Amino acid sequence: MEGIKLNDGVVIPQVGFGTFKIQPNGETEKAVAYALSCGCRHIDTAAGYFNEADVGRAVRNSGLRREDVFVTSKIWLQDHGYEAARKGIDATLAKLGFDYIDLYLIHHPYGDVPGAWRAFEEAKAAGKIRSIGVSNMSVKIWQSFVPQFDTIPSVNQIECHPYQQQRAIRAIMAEAGTALEAWAPLGQGNPSLHSEPLLLDLAAKYGKNVGQVILRFEVQEGAIVFPKSTNPERIKGNLEVFDFALTADEMTAIRALDKGVGHHDPDKPGVAERLLSKCRVHD
Ligand SMILES: NC(=O)c1ccc[n+]([C@@H]2O[C@H](COP(=O)([O-])OP(=O)(O)OC[C@H]3O[C@@H](n4cnc5c(N)ncnc54)[C@H](OP(=O)(O)O)[C@@H]3O)[C@@H](O)[C@H]2O)c1
Repeated sequence: MEGIKLNDGVVIPQVGFGTFKIQPNGETEKAVAYALSCGCRHIDTAAGYFNEADVGRAVRNSGLRREDVFVTSKIWLQDHGYEAARKGIDATLAKLGFDYIDLYLIHHPYGDVPGAWRAFEEAKAAGKIRSIGVSNMSVKIWQSFVPQFDTIPSVNQIECHPYQQQRAIRAIMAEAGTALEAWAPLGQGNPSLHSEPLLLDLAAKYGKNVGQVILRFEVQEGAIVFPKSTNPERIKGNLEVFDFALTADEMTAIRALDKGVGHHDPDKPGVAERLLSKCRVHD
């Protein structure tokens, strides 16, 4: 698997496996175990997915060495602020059953983000986390928080797919040396994206499915991707994107599909309150 070197020297496999909305107590463990058996070495979870324990179990029972699997998790916004974030980091470590997390992210950047970030920096220095990053930072949010940080985030995990290509924040991240992690790399299976004539033609040309063409586009754009699936054929197929390459003209044509609109707008008023009312990771 190809790797991307982050700004702190840590190397992350460019294609991984996402676990959003995969159920705990069986389904997640089974899907992660299968992804690992197909050669995947990068798993993305979050405190807010309630499946960290399943991910940890699947990795621990895989027969692979801990250092051969890259695991990302994220703190829920209920645990922002320095003291709460310290506890949140330890809660993730306990659920995963690991001594360290490879990459830990501020999942939704609202509230006392600088306090949480200080706890992240401290945990990184203590060896509890190898790399620290953020998620869902728009240009506006980035500009309000990142200048207060001592450590530049290694990644910003944002919604990114052919219909939402995030040019503005990507330019800022490129300047800062922050890697792009694309969530919803398949547009969450959006049927209109998956039936775009251009993508269907490219899939036929390369003998791939549309999902693989989309993932290949994102890989060539330099993004780190971790598509989610519970379908064994797709879990395996989504990893098979290194045996073909799109031409420069094909890349330009896919870039032109950008609508600049996605599922999630981090700048929308009331986002933090809505997220907190929908999900609480503890009382
Ligand atoms: N930081 C954040 O706020 C945030 C937000 C959302 C997601 N994420 C992370 O990013 C990961 C990926 O995003 P996502 O799960 O939202 O969406 P996604 O990976 O873009 O799409 C997943 C959907 O696409 C389907 N699918 C999978 N492979 C396919 C293929 N080859 N062709 C057609 N359809 C396919 C899946 O169905 P089947 O299961 O039936 O295959 C599922 O419905 C998440 O799992 C999570 O780890 C982070």
